[in-house]
Amino acid sequence: MEERKKLTIPDLLDMVARGEKITFLTAYDYPTALLEDRAGVDMILVGDSAAMCMLGHRTTLPAKMDFMIEITAAVSRAATRAFVVGDMPYMSYQPSNEIAIKNAGRFIAEGGADAVKLEGGARMAERVEAIVKAGIPVMGHIGLTPQAASLIGGLKAQGRNAQTAKQLIEDAKILEEAGAFAILLEAIPARVAEIIVKRAKIPILGIGSGPACHGQLLIVHDILGLFEAFTPKFVKRYADVASVMHKAFSDYVREVKEGKFPGPEHTYKIPQEEWELLQKLLGEG
Ligand code: KIV
Repeated sequence: MEERKKLTIPDLLDMVARGEKITFLTAYDYPTALLEDRAGVDMILVGDSAAMCMLGHRTTLPAKMDFMIEITAAVSRAATRAFVVGDMPYMSYQPSNEIAIKNAGRFIAEGGADAVKLEGGARMAERVEAIVKAGIPVMGHIGLTPQAASLIGGLKAQGRNAQTAKQLIEDAKILEEAGAFAILLEAIPARVAEIIVKRAKIPILGIGSGPACHGQLLIVHDILGLFEAFTPKFVKRYADVASVMHKAFSDYVREVKEGKFPGPEHTYKIPQEEWELLQKLLGEG
């Protein structure tokens, strides 16, 4: 049996040092996390995108702490090797350092996560520093930050002009100095990401931010073809699981309607002598 050593931050740093790309996927439930872990995915993000992918909300904002903790715990139980990052939902860290530390602590103590992620650059540096000082590893997240969608002009690529690109490069440095163990870049131009990677001493993960990043993140529902609302440019679909599920559901409906399911092989039997006794007991023998 293959040894399943849980990955730690030093392991991630070693991967970066030897030029090995880090693989990163979201998961929101036990069976999916189990399959990702077995397939060798290095990091799993329990993203607040669960509000959209799992619950059908139009944004990530309705994700609640209790929901995030419950699904993070399910993912953590499955991840025997992968490093698990719990995504801090909207308003679980913005109000104050105290609230941020308390909620980050819940991800670790109740959710079994190895680290937390929060959105925002310089304006969130104080929160990052406070949580790290409390002994909890924090991943920063800049670029397209869905919790601030209305502020940044919607769910669209960021840093596409010199001024905003410079701001992102500065944000990354500030988050690193605040103690972030890694930074996630979402939907920023590849050349801007390359500068951030070159200047960083910590792992830089990317989603839609080009190949220079030390690792790549995608949303599991996107790669499986299970999220139909919209598909960003950076998504690569690796399977059409929706078709497989649709076929299974419609075959089931047809077989039940036609009386083909359940067959004798799916049905429990009562031993003949017990059947005869039952008939006597019912006065029908
Ligand atoms: O919630 C999430 O899955 C995320 C990714 C989109 C980066 O934050």
